[in-house]
Amino acid sequence: MDFLDKLISVGIAINSVVDLEELLDLILQKARDLSGADAGSIYLVKDKELVFFAAQNDTLEKRLGKEEVKNLFRNFSLSLDKSSVAGYVAVTGEVLNIENVYENSQHDFWAHKQWDRANNYRSKSMLVFPLTTPKQEVVGVIQLINAKENGQIVPFKQSFVNIMPYFAAQAAVAIVNARLYHEVEASHLDTVFRLGVAAEYRDKETAFHIKRVAKMAVVFGQELGFSKQALHNLYWSVAMHDVGKLGVPDSILNKPGPLTDQERAIMQQHTLIGGYILRNARSELLQDAQIVALTHHEKYDGTGYPAQLKGESIPLIGRIAGIVDVFDALSSVRVYKPPFSEEKVRKIMLEGKGTHFDPDLIDILLENWDKFWDIRQKYQDGQKISEKHWVPQRLCWEELWQEIKQNQANWTPKVKNSDLVKW
Ligand SMILES: [Fe+2]
Ligand SMILES: [Fe+2]
Repeated sequence: MDFLDKLISVGIAINSVVDLEELLDLILQKARDLSGADAGSIYLVKDKELVFFAAQNDTLEKRLGKEEVKNLFRNFSLSLDKSSVAGYVAVTGEVLNIENVYENSQHDFWAHKQWDRANNYRSKSMLVFPLTTPKQEVVGVIQLINAKENGQIVPFKQSFVNIMPYFAAQAAVAIVNARLYHEVEASHLDTVFRLGVAAEYRDKETAFHIKRVAKMAVVFGQELGFSKQALHNLYWSVAMHDVGKLGVPDSILNKPGPLTDQERAIMQQHTLIGGYILRNARSELLQDAQIVALTHHEKYDGTGYPAQLKGESIPLIGRIAGIVDVFDALSSVRVYKPPFSEEKVRKIMLEGKGTHFDPDLIDILLENWDKFWDIRQKYQDGQKISEKHWVPQRLCWEELWQEIKQNQANWTPKVKNSDLVKW
């Protein structure tokens, strides 16, 4: 395969990866394959810094292992100026092709030499080039070290230096795309999350309910061999199963006594309202969420709502959502009931095998009972959630107030404290 063929195959390979970490590892690996470099690293421009993202070093990996080499760089960043080799290249857009780092009079590589000393490594030939997009934006820098031929360190070959700009442009575009993809995905999940929280805020009974059912659903997904992506979609769509409660009046949603027939009919509409809120979604995740919203109250024997679907005609993710929803409701306090004991929950779930619930899923539930019960115990209503990315818990006023006070010591609220407490 000549260089051009190699370059094309590299382009195809790197354009098929959207995970940024995986992508950068692949870009670095390909750059090293093409150039014969023993080691290399990639820095990306972030704000006013060059942040280290990927490192490979055959010599050190043999000595220390792959993970340890990555650790050498973790949380490492350089200022975006000419004080470092990578910074110099990022700022000037120049390519540095140096035969011997230690005999180079043009640039002072003291920081790099220090790193060499600290890690008992010796750099000789070095090729550093910017990752420039077609819009001439430098998104990062690749630093390749010690080109090797027959075990000997040699200067970087002109044949690679010639094609390197094409390689760099392809890599830069792939990086920009991966970043865009992540941005879109993050904002998408943010919206999904906020919808779940909105529904949660309406329903006083279920402070931790959505987190627990989402986690329990993932246990089913794992047992059923779902892919990583399918588990991810399952987690988020089950978290949104009751999004339709946004459309149910408070007087019914939080009524402590039994519902009248008419109230029950309105309550049951939350499945359809959820279906409407999520209709015509373009993303697969929201399409799954719509299925879950619509079908999580169907029963295996066809007596559920809203469509009286039966058996396997209820989508699997709907059957999973249905089972975790009931399991969690039974074991939690509700306006109309106290939490049931572990034994009572197990008995009721088993009684529903084949009637209310998919019998195969009940088998999975019983086989993995402790995993489900642990989730139930771990995320108790009313406790503080430590995971930053998930805050569906109604914020306690006192906590919020403490936070405000800490952040703004000199701030006095314009409304009276007593008014805020009501909020
Ligand atoms: Fe529901
Ligand atoms: Fe629920």
